[in-house]
Amino acid sequence: MRIDRLLSHLQYGTRKEVRRLIKKPRVTVNGALVRDPGFDVPADAVVAVDGQVLDQALAVYYLMNKPTGVITATTDDHDRTVLDLIAAADRRPGLYPVGRLDKDTTGLLLLTNDGTLGHNLLAPGKHVDKTYAATLRLPLTPVMQAQLEAGIAFKAFTSQPAKVTVVPETGAQLVHLTIGEGKYHQVKRMFKRVGNEVTALHRIAMGPLQLPATLPAGQYRPLTPEELTAIKALTR
Ligand code: URA
Repeated sequence: MRIDRLLSHLQYGTRKEVRRLIKKPRVTVNGALVRDPGFDVPADAVVAVDGQVLDQALAVYYLMNKPTGVITATTDDHDRTVLDLIAAADRRPGLYPVGRLDKDTTGLLLLTNDGTLGHNLLAPGKHVDKTYAATLRLPLTPVMQAQLEAGIAFKAFTSQPAKVTVVPETGAQLVHLTIGEGKYHQVKRMFKRVGNEVTALHRIAMGPLQLPATLPAGQYRPLTPEELTAIKALTR
């Protein structure tokens, strides 16, 4: 892979930024300074920035059960972020959350430093299904359900038909909703538009990933090889 591509995949910046880094020159491959952004890096090469070795196989993939009260961002001036929940030993340059959950939303969040995978999962038109358990203020009526299933027209977009399952014995106040898009506050807005209100929101699945029932809020674990294969297959 080209050195500029590799570095930007590892989240050292945009192509333009990493080219500057290379031209400085601050990047070595197998101990030799590299000044050509198009330099082809052998798969087993030792790459370093400012003498700090990058592990090319260092891509990490964490599945987190996001707790309430933390921000889905890499930094924030006021609040704790999901990155603050990652142990120092597990941090990597460029680690970031793929997609966004509101501060008060809990559940499945993927974090990775594999910018390509994250980017592809969120690419417009990709529509990776996401399933949420939504606790509602009012019971879901058949009319509300039909509206959600038909798709709802907002100013900027129309939601694709959602899959809706009412969880039995919850007075129709706990609903599993599967949507393909991931617009800002989408689930809350969808229920609001049908005359209801989400009082708690928990993501239980994203594509082939399911939130393990045994993963406590605030904890994370690496994806299993099977999960990683399945999520990578989605982006091919
Ligand atoms: N939809 C929302 O309204 N909030 C989230 O956090 C995720 C989806």
